[in-house]
Amino acid sequence: MARKDLIVGNWKMNSNHLEAIQMVQKLHYRLDPDDYDRVDVGVAPPFTSLRSVQTVIEADHMRIQLAAQNTHFEEKGAYTGEVAPSMLAKLSVDYVIVGHSERRQIFDETDDWVNRKAKAVFAHEMTPIVCVGESLEEREEGIAFDRVGSQVQLSLAGLSAEQIGAIVVAYEPIWAIGTGRTADPADAQEMIGFIRDRLRDQWGEAADETRILYGGSVNPGNIGAIMAKKDIDGGLVGGASLDPDTFAAVVRYWI
Ligand code: PGA
Repeated sequence: MARKDLIVGNWKMNSNHLEAIQMVQKLHYRLDPDDYDRVDVGVAPPFTSLRSVQTVIEADHMRIQLAAQNTHFEEKGAYTGEVAPSMLAKLSVDYVIVGHSERRQIFDETDDWVNRKAKAVFAHEMTPIVCVGESLEEREEGIAFDRVGSQVQLSLAGLSAEQIGAIVVAYEPIWAIGTGRTADPADAQEMIGFIRDRLRDQWGEAADETRILYGGSVNPGNIGAIMAKKDIDGGLVGGASLDPDTFAAVVRYWI
């Protein structure tokens, strides 16, 4: 089965709910209806903007998909400041980013937590976007493949073949995030091909259906070369997703 391209804008901690409404409306006007047949387009606003963006998407029948940037894995309880997966599902969230390197590094999220979050997202019929990626030191020490291989194995442990076929993995080398330093497309393909091989080793042909994205300083100038690689199915886009014109140019990478 052919994998449909997916490009998701990760807005990180940017935009209040009024700005978020404007951003999603502008993006919608800049995309053609046909674009969505070729690529699934998602935006991941902060939690406080999810409800507003959801309302606009539904009211205007937009085909833009909604993503959350994080979730807790527990159903409810005494977890001050956290948001449960059921709350996101109720907002018609399609995807939940889990294990972004900023969460792993700044908030000490472990592979075990990422794994629990991925399972909790599936339990509420949303799709996890599981992020993996090595640091600059790990790349320079020659252990990038070991690091990413271990993140893939631990973060996805216990998932079924059906879930592996449905999940999205984002390979984001930490040294490329927000730095303007994109991975060479050939290097990105090498790592993403390696990830798919690891998935195939464990889950068989389900790995051919897994969408694997590249993330790290994606912009309108480099997305075409990245998307030309055979195992790369899309992008997780930070900085370049904040301006709707720029993000639309990333989404329409073939133009
Ligand atoms: P960037 O962020 O595009 O600004 O490098 C990507 C990400 O962190 O998902």
